[in-house]
Amino acid sequence: MIDVSWEFRLRRLATILSVAILTLALMAAITGGLLAFYYQPSAGGAYNSLETITNEVPFGWLIRSVHNIAGNGLVGLGLIQIVVMFLGEKFRRSWIAGWISNILLVLTAIGLGWTAMLLDWSQEGFWRFRIEVATIEAIPLIGSQLVAILTGGSGVSTVTVQHLYALHSYALPLGAIALATVHLISLLMLQQQERREKQNELLEANS
Ligand code: HEM
Repeated sequence: MIDVSWEFRLRRLATILSVAILTLALMAAITGGLLAFYYQPSAGGAYNSLETITNEVPFGWLIRSVHNIAGNGLVGLGLIQIVVMFLGEKFRRSWIAGWISNILLVLTAIGLGWTAMLLDWSQEGFWRFRIEVATIEAIPLIGSQLVAILTGGSGVSTVTVQHLYALHSYALPLGAIALATVHLISLLMLQQQERREKQNELLEANS
């Protein structure tokens, strides 16, 4: 009999969502790369360079909007995917790999949103970052070292923007794309496995 159970449908939905997740990660990385042509990672230049991108660069406003929507959408879809995968449970190795890669991807996407906080050098971003730095500093033993690594050791300055930009534009996007790819592949593998099992069941029923 063909499996059209609720869990089966959710698993197919998870595969569709994993394609959308990889697409969003690629869109964010490509538009981020385009923003980098004009963006200046410095305390004095960041705000003005983003204003130039929005008001003067052809389609700059569109690239910035697509980047913001894709970046924030990645967190949203990743969270929806966690719920879909939880409900469509399947205790197979590829499903567990998909589950873990999606959780790590959501954490990476949150990290990308967090490191972007100071990149526009706005009043809101600056003061929010100061508060978050004070919270991180309160972590026992490693708090002050973490803050020194993030800020560059001399308050919130150009060095801080550069440190956050390095994380935001190299390490984290590479991680996000790698995780989104592993996530999609593991769900496609499960789909393949389920299809094979169904064919075997049909063969056995007919013989
Ligand atoms: C998977 C890849 C990426 C994701 C998910 C991502 C996500 C984000 C998010 C959520 C924001 C904040 C948007 C907001 O204000 O709400 C942002 C801003 C920004 N990102 Fe990315 N990003 C990615 C890759 C990159 C890359 C590769 C670069 C540059 C090489 C880059 C450069 C920037 C810049 C300059 C901003 C500040 C722009 C603004 O405030 O409008 N991003 N990104």
